[in-house]
Amino acid sequence: MARHLITSAIPYINGVKHLGNLVGSQLPADLFARYMRARGHDVLFLCATDEHGTPAELAAAKAGQPVADYCAEMHRVQADLAAGFRLSFDHFGRSSSEENRRLTQHLAVKLFEAGLIEERTERQVYSVADGRFLPDRYIEGTCPNCGYEKARGDQCENCTKQLDPTDLIDPRSAISGATELEVRETKHLYLLQSTLRDRLAAWIDEQADWPVLTTSIAKKWLFDGDGLQDRGITRDLDWGIPAQFEGAPWSGMEGKVFYVWFDAPIEYIACAAEWAAAQGLADADWERWWRTGRDAGDVRYTQFMGKDNVPFHTLSFPATLIGSGEDWKLVDYIKSFNYLNYDGGQFSTSQGRGVFMDDALEILPADYWRWWLLSRAPESQDSEFTWEAFQTDVNKDLADVLGNFVSRVTKFCRSKFGEAVPAGGAWGERERQLIADLSTGLARYEAAMDAIAIRRAAQELRALWVMGNEYLQEAAPWAAYKEDPDRAAAVIRLALNLIRVYAVLSQPFIPDAAAAMRRALGTEDANWPGDMEAALGALAPGHAFAVPDVLFRKITEEERDTWQARFAGGRG
Ligand code: 2FM
Ligand code: ZN
Repeated sequence: MARHLITSAIPYINGVKHLGNLVGSQLPADLFARYMRARGHDVLFLCATDEHGTPAELAAAKAGQPVADYCAEMHRVQADLAAGFRLSFDHFGRSSSEENRRLTQHLAVKLFEAGLIEERTERQVYSVADGRFLPDRYIEGTCPNCGYEKARGDQCENCTKQLDPTDLIDPRSAISGATELEVRETKHLYLLQSTLRDRLAAWIDEQADWPVLTTSIAKKWLFDGDGLQDRGITRDLDWGIPAQFEGAPWSGMEGKVFYVWFDAPIEYIACAAEWAAAQGLADADWERWWRTGRDAGDVRYTQFMGKDNVPFHTLSFPATLIGSGEDWKLVDYIKSFNYLNYDGGQFSTSQGRGVFMDDALEILPADYWRWWLLSRAPESQDSEFTWEAFQTDVNKDLADVLGNFVSRVTKFCRSKFGEAVPAGGAWGERERQLIADLSTGLARYEAAMDAIAIRRAAQELRALWVMGNEYLQEAAPWAAYKEDPDRAAAVIRLALNLIRVYAVLSQPFIPDAAAAMRRALGTEDANWPGDMEAALGALAPGHAFAVPDVLFRKITEEERDTWQARFAGGRG
């Protein structure tokens, strides 16, 4: 049994996330966490809301609420939606937690003591019209790197380059649109990341097995031109973790907070502390996941995120941990994702374009979305959500292949043998062949899941479902029953057992359907099949079952058109 620490990039608090956000971090992280638990490993799966910085302030202002109230409310909303999508976090924390404040301030002190933080007087954009300094997202302008016209002050979402607000061409205030901007002097703390370049480069070089998407982005920002610049880690904002505090080895930082990208990844650690506190556990219980001096060296740590988050996880956060000189666990594997597009364009939170998590659950249960999103995950390139593709895949994979198998087998058995696993008959050559095929297919499925090759894993799982259908078609128990009821019983006994095996194997993708299948079969047995032949004998003759309700219904043309029209206009 291995120990797996799994984190999903923590979503910004500013509103309900769209399906592109979901498939880029939380959902694949959940798939992996569920799989690792199903294989018997010890898993700690963490996520949280990212509550600081300008996105939170701007959204709260728009909602007309105090920031703290807004964050508390949106945290509940996001937690409920996560539960609706069956995201199986061990803890869903908050970056505004007391634990994160303590750890962030602690790490800043350690970095200062290591000579990696210095005070600098910097020139910062001041908006005369707004009467304030404009940090990061309060400024928009043209990216100096790629020319994208809506780049933000901290990062260009088009080319992923990390920016400073003063880099932007034709800058304007995101609050008022004012272009009357001045550059004024103010003091900030700087993290001297550039002095860690060699250590970070060596560490990234060790990661031969990381996805190319991850290492290419990391190397780009490590070596290209001004890649790993020293970065300001404080901002002129009210909301955030105070940069001036008791015991701080600097002065004059009153009214400033840490930069959101400094404290957000530290929440991965703080979240473990929040988890322990919520469970009534001791500090040692979370430290064993995070401190190598407390056995975290044995932990395998996997992070999930969209590609725009990669620079912060391959460079900035490791710089914080390595630079602290303490024994923090570094990530072992970073699974990153391209973007999911929506019907010929981009999903967009600001424009309300696309399907958001709350809309999705209102339309169909979580499993429909989980299956589609995961089986089309934007791994090697961007992928696109269209209503047509969604309808086609759901109807084919879930309704025709898996759902139909379950329904035919259970209904046929009920009508001929009653609602219990039938006795009689023996397995022959065709069954031996099926067992061999299932065993090979299972090994392929496991290999894909172990490698977090999500689309491939979905294909392998589907291939296992198809094998059952083909077997049923060929063995044709409805025909055999007339001549040789024992033969039909042997086939159905295998097929009923195969439903249990499908429930176990499919659970990481479609947990609700898997639970419904197990319930119908009247079994709690969720053991991962080691030996396929043995697994197909788990439900013995006489074991009672019930025909389940339809597992997956088909999406009609009419529904598809209605939804497409409904979402064409945006959320407003
Ligand atoms: O891109 C985002 O949604 C960020 N809130 C992710 C932060 S991940 C981490 F560093 F905590
Ligand atoms: Zn750019």
